[in-house]
This record gives sequence, C-alpha cells and structure tokens, in this order.
Amino acid sequence: MSHTILDVTDLRKDYSQRRGLIPMLAGRERVIPAVDGVSFYLRENETVGLVGESGCGKTTIGRTVLRLTDPSSGRIVFDGRDITRLSRAELRPLRREMQMIFQDLDAGLNPKMRVHAILREALTVYERPSDAEIARRIRELLEQVNLKDSKLANFPSQLSGGEKRRVGIARVLAVRPRLIVADEPTSALDVSIQAQVVNLLRDLQKHLGLTYLFISHDLPVVELVSQKVAVMYLGRIVEMGLAESIAHQPLHPYTRILWSSLADKRSTEVNLYARSGATAARGTWGVFDFEQPASGCRFAPRCPLYQDKGRPAVCTDPASEPPLRDVGKGHVVACHFA
Ligand SMILES: Nc1ncnc2c1ncn2[C@@H]1O[C@H](COP(=O)(O)OP(=O)(O)O)[C@@H](O)[C@H]1O
Ligand code: SF4
Ligand SMILES: [Mg+2]
Repeated sequence: MSHTILDVTDLRKDYSQRRGLIPMLAGRERVIPAVDGVSFYLRENETVGLVGESGCGKTTIGRTVLRLTDPSSGRIVFDGRDITRLSRAELRPLRREMQMIFQDLDAGLNPKMRVHAILREALTVYERPSDAEIARRIRELLEQVNLKDSKLANFPSQLSGGEKRRVGIARVLAVRPRLIVADEPTSALDVSIQAQVVNLLRDLQKHLGLTYLFISHDLPVVELVSQKVAVMYLGRIVEMGLAESIAHQPLHPYTRILWSSLADKRSTEVNLYARSGATAARGTWGVFDFEQPASGCRFAPRCPLYQDKGRPAVCTDPASEPPLRDVGKGHVVACHFA
C-alpha cells in the first residue's frame, strides 16, 4: 500500500467577520467556522475529491492544508512531518513539494509578463539552473501541458481560458511538486475545454506520480478523477468513501441531492453562509445562519429524509450532531438514518 503523503486530523478554521453597521460599532465579531473538524488522508499518487456547494469550506481546506492560511486547530502532517505550526521560514523548503492550482485563471499570471518569462520565473524560484537548462525545462513543460511554442511570446491577455489554465499548470509543474491541490481547475472553462483539462491532469498524475486533492462543486467531475471522494456540507465532511461507492451507493441525503441537476444549478448561486434575510428566505433550499445555527444535524433544514421520516427529534437534538459512522470498506457517513 502506498505511502500517506498528507494526513489531516480534526482541522478547524474560523474566520472572524464584522458585518453590518451595528456589529461593527459594537465591536461584535461574527465567527464563521469555515472548516469545522475535518479529517482525511491522501496516499501518494492518488486523488481525493472534495465536493460540496459554494461556501462549504473547500478552498479553505485546500489553502489550510498547504499552510497558505493558518489553521485554528487540528493537525496537518505532510510526508510524515507535522507542519501545523511550522513558521514561514521552516515551510519554505516544503513549499515546492505542495502546490495549488488556483480557481482564478489569472492567478500567478503577471499580465505584464510573457508566457516565457512567467515559466522562467517559476523555474528559478527554488533553483538556479543554467540558461540551457531553463530552455530545456520550458520545452518539457510545454510538452507536458500541450502548449505550442508560439504561445511563449504571448501575454496572458492574449491567451484563451484553456491556455491560461495550461500555463498555470505548467507554472506549478515547474517546481516539481508532489502534492497538488487543484481548486476548481475546470470551473471557469467551457465544457469542451473542461474535459481536456481533466484528461491533462490525469495524464500528468500517471507520468509524474502526482497526488491530488481535487476540489470541485461538480460531483460527476470529482467522481471521474478521484479514487476517494469526500462530500462537504457547511464545514464538515458528511460522507466519504471510494468514488464508486459515492457514485453508485450514496448514503447521505445530501450526496444524493448533489447528484441531482437541481443542486448543480443552484450551487453556483447560493452562498450557504449568507445571512441576509433576502437570501435566507430563498425557497425551501434554506441557508445556514451562524447566529441561529441549526441544532443537531446541520443538514436538517434542507433534508428530504428528515421530512420523509416525520421530522424525528434526534435529527435536531442539540446533543447529537451525527458523527461520521463507518459502514464498511472505508465508507463513512454522518446521518442517523443512512
Ligand atoms: N478570508 C476570509 N475571511 C472571512 N470569511 C471567509 C474568508 N474566506 C472564506 N470565508 C468564508 O468561509 C466560508 C467558506 O469559504 P470557502 O472555503 O471559500 O468555500 P468554497 O471554496 O467551498 O466555496 C464562506 O462562508 C466564506 O464566505
Ligand atoms: S441525521 Fe436526520 S437531518 Fe441529518 S441527514 Fe440524516 S436524516 Fe437528514
Ligand atoms: Mg472555493
């Protein structure tokens, strides 16, 4: 069995926010538990997919496990080393091994630099290669991401979305990472291009032995690229297991909803943490309000199974938020009735 490259235990990340005039004047802070006790691990050369609607905490997990954001608590072990509290200086040599593909296509692409200069810069962050070596590596990177030589002379504004994504991936590959957090790598692209990028990432994994934490709000895409899938809802993992189990035997009512096209359409519109009355009132979809958090299971306000079962008290019992229960073959689910 392959080696565990990333091991995350009980990770928490709170953001404090002062919103609205009165809280601001009163100095009252609203705490958003964006990641609320999440544990998972990644084995070398595998992909774990992280899926859930906008605002459920996916990006925060990605940024936190790479220590781009400090965790509030929990433990992050990278390649056998506890990195939870390492200082910036201590992290520096590890940075190249753990990289992030950001959702924003323009991230890291300086608009004033040509593609050649962007790649050259990436190749010289951690090393001082000779000019000949840089030229060789740039050719290799272009081949790896399937970009034509002619693009080297372009500025980012002269590239299509798919080309920007490829340059972004080449930049990340330039430092020879082992673990890549890919944050919605296809969400800003046309459907036809999305498939190309997904295939590219899969090929790169095969040839370079990469490990991915693949983040997306799109469950079918996640299922396609991942060996394991973790489904998140409001800062927590509510179901996790082999991709095929999550695809063919989803147990949590939320995972089932995610498979439906309805959830797919709404996921981009609804930020679950929105608290304004207007947003909170939106249909039966409901939102989570941190000033009046749901007690018991946080999914109860939207749960069809809860309704079907005649609103059982255990679902809203403040003393019993359902824990992740092992149902065999490493499949875990947080629902009293799954
Ligand atoms: N820097 C920040 N400051 C305050 N709140 C934040 C910050 N980043 C994210 N959040 C909040 O944390 C929650 C989770 O956000 P995020 O991790 O971006 O979710 P996702 O990637 O799943 O859409 C959201 O409510 C978001 O508004
Ligand atoms: S515990 Fe109850 S409310 Fe929560 S997902 Fe299961 S049935 Fe729905
Ligand atoms: Mg995100």
